[in-house]
Amino acid sequence: MATLLIVHHTPSPNCQALLEAVVSGATAPEIEGVRVVRRAALTATAVDVLEADGYLLGTPANLGYMSGALKHFFDQVYYPCLDETRGRPFGYYVHGGSDTTGAVRGIESVTTGLGWQRAAPAVNVTGEPAKADLAACWELGATLAAGLMG
Ligand SMILES: Cc1cc2nc3c(=O)[nH]c(=O)nc-3n(C[C@H](O)[C@H](O)[C@H](O)COP(=O)(O)O)c2cc1C
Repeated sequence: MATLLIVHHTPSPNCQALLEAVVSGATAPEIEGVRVVRRAALTATAVDVLEADGYLLGTPANLGYMSGALKHFFDQVYYPCLDETRGRPFGYYVHGGSDTTGAVRGIESVTTGLGWQRAAPAVNVTGEPAKADLAACWELGATLAAGLMG
């Protein structure tokens, strides 16, 4: 069975709403044969990454970059996973107060280095998520998971 690994940093209710929408999409009844594993970014390991077939990342924008937690995740897994995960699909969402540019740039940069292939448009949200934002997150989760169906 294929595995979708969701690695997220979720420090607030607005971020939680995006995470839940992503999980809801990834676990929609139409999607069969895909195991969805959720890991807080500070607890995710290189083994989690190696054992998964695709990745969904979620983070707030903090100080013009991805959260320290998601950066810590990449610091931990980058070299142990570099050879074996090249080409695998990924997607991501970013939540910010006003400007997510640096966080987006950081995620694009590190995933390019890993050779991961973005399988869905990134979702960028500022402030309280609107219905359309939650729908975009649902779509993100569903797209990533559907892409892993056998
Ligand atoms: C220390 C700190 C730095 C932050 N830096 C940014 C930033 O650079 N860009 C941005 O858009 N939001 C920034 N924010 C806002 C967070 O992204 C936001 O608080 C987080 O996404 C949670 O959203 P919420 O507070 O609306 O629930 C920052 C928040 C904190 C606490």
